[in-house]
Amino acid sequence: MKIDLLSPASFAAGQPHAQYDWLRENAPVRWHEEPDGKGFWAVTRHADVWAVDRDFQTYSSEPTIMISDPLAEAGGFGPYKMMLMMDPPEHTGFRKLIRSEFTEPSARLRGERIQQLAKQIVDAVIEKGACDFVDEVAGEMPSFVIAELMGLPLSDGRELYKLTEIIHTAPEALPPGAGGQAVMKMFEYGSKVIAEKRARPGDDLASKLLACEVDGRKLEDMEFLLFFLLLVDAGGDTTRNLLSGGLVALMENPDQYAWLMADLEGRLPRAREELLRWTSPVIYMRRTAKRDAELGGQQIKAGDKVVMYFGAANRDPAVFDRPGVLDLSRAENPHIAFGTGPHGCLGQHIARIEIDAMLREVLTRMGTFELAAPVEWLASNFISGPKAMPIRFRAT
Ligand code: HEM
Repeated sequence: MKIDLLSPASFAAGQPHAQYDWLRENAPVRWHEEPDGKGFWAVTRHADVWAVDRDFQTYSSEPTIMISDPLAEAGGFGPYKMMLMMDPPEHTGFRKLIRSEFTEPSARLRGERIQQLAKQIVDAVIEKGACDFVDEVAGEMPSFVIAELMGLPLSDGRELYKLTEIIHTAPEALPPGAGGQAVMKMFEYGSKVIAEKRARPGDDLASKLLACEVDGRKLEDMEFLLFFLLLVDAGGDTTRNLLSGGLVALMENPDQYAWLMADLEGRLPRAREELLRWTSPVIYMRRTAKRDAELGGQQIKAGDKVVMYFGAANRDPAVFDRPGVLDLSRAENPHIAFGTGPHGCLGQHIARIEIDAMLREVLTRMGTFELAAPVEWLASNFISGPKAMPIRFRAT
């Protein structure tokens, strides 16, 4: 089997499950060459991904979680780091600053507003009978939620989301320098937020971040900007891709769709978890070994890159019964689409509320839908999901 987990072409029709299956079965921790880099270990079994993600003492998130990240490897933003690329105890201190905003009870408090936003999003397309589901429906929700969290106009959330999309696209698929420019634009916008929120603080996460203290001091501007970039990036196209990829899965499995619709409210929680397992929107996270270790029978050397493939782990037959079957009624579903360990997705409770709210609105109101053109997938080996998805629907 030809294994290539780098080329965006391997992800052009969704995640390369045939490659994942072969790797899990034959070489669960396998050395993968890298044309412009030193190569990496590809980890595909659930137990190994789980172990690597939790063992931060052996597998570091520094200097970066991307397989190739010339900026970070060359020293990044000097002394400043994004929380996602820190190890405990430094990471713990930063995560604590915003943790309370993301607990399950805090997320639940936002439920009613998020449901209202979902209604507003579907209201905007419902009369048209056709739309691009990715841009006009699925992408709107995370853009609006991040704007609300940060206390920004909803329309700005949409602009920030467009920048996220560029940042997560493989550099080969973009004009030269476009990714870096998108990061700079995000920082420019973040700098305006700093000025506005310092002048007129509100009851929002941006104001709270600017007011809080880490190690007895206020956050520096660059620390705030990296938090801002992380929150906008992490919460944007992940949720969108779950919604779009989830709808594709429902269209491809009409029996499952019918099962769900027979008791949408009662069946939504299990169905949502299965769609998370099935789509696994974050393809991988990279770690760097801090010391020699053994993993899946392989000798890992200090300094080696170790890459966890969440989509592969989520179809591991050692953990999931009939992993290649979409079963919305799946009762045991220990998927790791949100990762695990110290970096396990901070936004997962909000993400679940966003997903439920959107599925409720879309499935009950845009009821009968079909693809108007084939789905076009993102050219990315990092984030998986449809890039464009024109649909026709009949309002119900
Ligand atoms: C379906 C939607 C989502 C998926 C699949 C997802 C997935 C992930 C994954 C795989 C990680 C890395 C975990 C690890 O390394 O073990 C992560 C981290 C993170 N996510 Fe999410 N995410 C989603 C939505 C969100 C949302 C809505 C937000 C915020 C509003 C968010 C905020 C974060 C943050 C801040 C981190 C970094 C946590 C840390 O470094 O401690 N995510 N997410």
